[in-house]
Amino acid sequence: MNSSIEEIRQKALSELEAAEDADSVESLSVAYLGRKGRVTGFLRNISSLPVEQRPAAGKRANEVKKELEEAFANALAILSASPQEDQGIDVSLPGRPAPLGNLHPITLITRDIARIFESMGFGIAEGPEVESDYYNFESLNIPQNHPARDMQDTFYVRDRVVLRTHTSPIQVRYMEAHNPPVRIIAPGKVYRCDSDLTHTPMFHQVEGLLVDEKVCFGDLKGILTAFVHQIFDDEIRVRFRPSFFPFTEPSAEVDIQCVICRGSGCKVCSDTGWLEVLGCGMVHPAVFENVGYDITRYSGFAFGMGVERIAMLKYGINDIRMFFENDIRFLRQF
Ligand code: FA5
Ligand code: MG
Repeated sequence: MNSSIEEIRQKALSELEAAEDADSVESLSVAYLGRKGRVTGFLRNISSLPVEQRPAAGKRANEVKKELEEAFANALAILSASPQEDQGIDVSLPGRPAPLGNLHPITLITRDIARIFESMGFGIAEGPEVESDYYNFESLNIPQNHPARDMQDTFYVRDRVVLRTHTSPIQVRYMEAHNPPVRIIAPGKVYRCDSDLTHTPMFHQVEGLLVDEKVCFGDLKGILTAFVHQIFDDEIRVRFRPSFFPFTEPSAEVDIQCVICRGSGCKVCSDTGWLEVLGCGMVHPAVFENVGYDITRYSGFAFGMGVERIAMLKYGINDIRMFFENDIRFLRQF
């Protein structure tokens, strides 16, 4: 310990004497009482004094701390009071700007996604967030008691009424109401009982559906690859991994190279170098039959992507929960 507590006190008080505005008092307060301040440092070092000196030194240091706290607070109160306070309102002062908000990153990404698909001729559809068991599951070839129901942990509102677990029910609702050709995307909130670094109980998906004559898996790959290259860049690596969904056959999941670790492995991509961003496939004939489409004439593909996942990759965010903590310092950056 280089200076004694008395020296620190003397120096603090004389510097405070010289302080001319509230800002300098604030910095003095940090320099002496802050986490790395001199008084704080002195207190932290007491344990290195000889045992018999410790009680007295501790007592005195705490007194000084209290004295300085009061002195700084008084000085602040005096210096921050406006000298013109009781001279009325100065109408010549410029107005205070109202703080401006900005769009949430998920809104921004959803708009980017919509713009890209709109440029490829897709329209936009919507559906309810509280959904019947029929649209969320049965019409999509997921019968009651089918093990595929366990793929998504469902919030039940009441018997046979759920918070939709994906945007796929909008496919069925749209096809019931429109004849082919169909070319739509459907953005929206979805809900699952799920929570960790890459899962939240509410998240956003964008569903896609294209139905026409002679649509094939090559069309699906082409459209989705073009999409990924537009939303990220032409360099990003994409892979189609065989998968299973009851409402598509064949089915695939699309992974994108993890931009957090550039593919070398990190906790966001569970050390695989890849992050799943969407599921897709050729619409299952059973789904077409449920909506009354002629399966000998029409074929189509569908996909469902996770908006948060795409936003995480695009902005390099490694914890999905940050989107929903409403920390203004985080949200302002977009
Ligand atoms: C589905 O939800 C299918 N409905 C997708 C689909 C549509 C397949 C049309 C075929 C045809 P999945 O459960 O894999 O699939 O979710 C799709 C995407 O949502 C995932 O790739 C992932 O990006 C995102 N996702 C899934 N669960 C969560 C979660 N809890 N939090 C954030 N994002 C999630
Ligand atoms: Mg999946």
